[in-house]
Amino acid sequence: MAQCTRVSGSVGLITLQNPPVNALSAAVRQGIVDTVKRALSDPKVKSVVICGQDGIFCGGADIKEFGTKMSGPPLVPMIHAIEAASKPVVAAIEGGALGGGLELALGCHYRIAHSKARLGLPEVSLGLLPAAGGTQRLPRLIGVPAALDLITTGRHITAAEALQLGVVDQVTEHRTVDAAVKFALSVAGKPLDGRRISTYPCPRPSDLDALFEAAMQKVRQNARGAIAPVACVQAVRAAATLPYIQGMEREKELMATLFTSGQARALQYCFFAQRAVSKWSMPSGARWDTSKPRPVHKAAVIGLGTMGRGITVALAQAGLSVVAVETQEKQLMEAKQAVSAMLERGAKRRGVAPGPDKVSYSHNIQAVADVDLVIEAVFEDMDLKKKVFQQMSVICKPGTFLCTNTSALDVDHLASQTRNPELVVGMHFFAPAHVMKLLEVVHGSQSSPQTVATAMQLGKKMGKVSVAVGNCRGFVGNRMLKPYVEQAFFLLEEGATPELVDRALEEFGFPMGVFRMSDLSGLDVGWRVRRGDGLVEPGAASGQPARSRGGRRYSPLGDLLCEQGRFGQKTGRGWYQYDKPGSRIARSDPWLHSFLEEYRARHGLVARRIDHQEVLERCLYALINEGFRILEDGIATGPEDIDIIYVFGYGWPRHRGGPMFYAGMVGLAKVLERLEHYHQAHPDVPYLQPCSLLRRLVAGGSPPVHRWREVIKKFHSQL
Ligand code: NAI
Repeated sequence: MAQCTRVSGSVGLITLQNPPVNALSAAVRQGIVDTVKRALSDPKVKSVVICGQDGIFCGGADIKEFGTKMSGPPLVPMIHAIEAASKPVVAAIEGGALGGGLELALGCHYRIAHSKARLGLPEVSLGLLPAAGGTQRLPRLIGVPAALDLITTGRHITAAEALQLGVVDQVTEHRTVDAAVKFALSVAGKPLDGRRISTYPCPRPSDLDALFEAAMQKVRQNARGAIAPVACVQAVRAAATLPYIQGMEREKELMATLFTSGQARALQYCFFAQRAVSKWSMPSGARWDTSKPRPVHKAAVIGLGTMGRGITVALAQAGLSVVAVETQEKQLMEAKQAVSAMLERGAKRRGVAPGPDKVSYSHNIQAVADVDLVIEAVFEDMDLKKKVFQQMSVICKPGTFLCTNTSALDVDHLASQTRNPELVVGMHFFAPAHVMKLLEVVHGSQSSPQTVATAMQLGKKMGKVSVAVGNCRGFVGNRMLKPYVEQAFFLLEEGATPELVDRALEEFGFPMGVFRMSDLSGLDVGWRVRRGDGLVEPGAASGQPARSRGGRRYSPLGDLLCEQGRFGQKTGRGWYQYDKPGSRIARSDPWLHSFLEEYRARHGLVARRIDHQEVLERCLYALINEGFRILEDGIATGPEDIDIIYVFGYGWPRHRGGPMFYAGMVGLAKVLERLEHYHQAHPDVPYLQPCSLLRRLVAGGSPPVHRWREVIKKFHSQL
């Protein structure tokens, strides 16, 4: 709704009312059309102010209306009518003017913003473009380069930056409506010809072609196959090269293409999935989702290696006091320096003064005695972790939550080492822990609802996307990764190269293919795990390790590389070669290619041509099939949880919605058929066998992803 009141005698004040963000729903649009008309025809009204109730101007289109039949007045003519008004219209921007909200403000003749307001056109992140004139008015107002930046990235800007760019006319520290009303009184009766942005000529830089070419190249590089940023560049180009009316036509055409694309659907799905997962109040019937978390003021981290340092930084940045414990004196000193430097850099980036140092260091585990929660991040070694949990259980005050950052080990086993297993939970962060947004909260079989809720809440406070998962080897993310990586190894045996596999996955949209990723994180990590599992044959170095374990196909390729000291970037050699250890630029390695040829020859394998489609189908469908098994086993509450884990923790391209959503887009019947085909060709790879949930969904007519829960409910949930 929108309400109009007359204030200060001659100002019509229109207030948008649609909590929580005054989104432009059909009712709000209708309200604006009616109230503007009334204000313009009222002779007592000399100027108009548009504001939003509850301290926010407008959060944009009502995303809930996407995909439904359009009702109410459309946005474009509504904004035109405001711009064409014969009386000055002033936007009073408090809180945020985002998407359609900013486009509405750009239709006004003046914009006054509160100093704390945020402005932006984030449509691109939903696979769309600002289609209510945003792509045509913004470049006319602030120039092509700045408009390109805002529209293609969707980034939000502060009021100060908006003033500097010329998006707003004035910034106020006081009540925005008061400042806007005062301003409206001062401009009443003044000519408006120079205030209608659509009539401005778009500034044309002399090197227009070069500028757009560079912009296009940049978005293509960053977009990883996403089409919306490309369409944004095309729309801004239309603003710079066509008259306004034709530019609007182009904006409309481009929007129509985006709107019906699968990418926009995938991105909107991700938007809702992220919100649903972080609210953790889905109708899952989960035992913990109604429990009240306990506040955590002081936390401890044990083990200050790669992960412990990042976790310490993330906790301190969330405002907690942190006790950081490390047994190795040298590691402790290095960690202290590294954590301080990371905190300083973080403060600088966020434009805040580095706060008082809230981190204290100790090499004595007794220092954790009075904390509310501990996160253990020592080596991935069950015996060591068991010992640490026994110690914590004795040292910590009663009620302290004990968390482990293990990537794959059994949380229940660790809980059984303590006096209060209900206080034990997994908090699986991703490297680098102060940067990566994902947190898997691992619900052990004895974790209490309050323990899980507290870990979820703490993750949220740390700015993470927390997803609750059940306890099994590798939880959700790493469990699904295993078949994906194994398929990549098998493809090498059958004739592919790391370059071919990586190219296929990178063209699909992953920032890095499986082999470049493996070089980055270190081949030795998986090797150690496989050795622990007794999978690595002692004679591997002799070059004749078997290609099966317990009747299942196994590729010893990774083990063979490790035995040669090829651990990836850290040693300067892995699946690729690097100029020096630690260098990040992967170059093709002729040694690796001859090594693969010799390996195939030794095992009597004949290399065949493998195309991108096979790489994608085998790697991705194997991973997806494991995702279905995870749902079947009740390890994840629903497909959204898995998708959010993959988008935020594993570089799955967001515009493809996550693996489970993607399976639906491809067609579940097709995924099933291809898995059957590959399982027949590779009967010694059990995880290629389509799982029963997938079969059931296909038999049930392949319902859309939001209806899978009805089928999943029949399985037993671990959550
Ligand atoms: P790391 O090897 O870099 O660090 C482990 C640290 O723990 C070392 O500084 C070591 O001195 C210290 N430590 C060992 N015993 C200790 C004890 N009794 N008390 C205090 N400190 C002790 O290992 P990283 O990579 O940080 O991994 C830690 C944990 O996080 C492992 O469980 C790992 O599986 C998990 N993890 C690792 C990820 C990664 O990408 N590196 C990602 C997610 C989880």
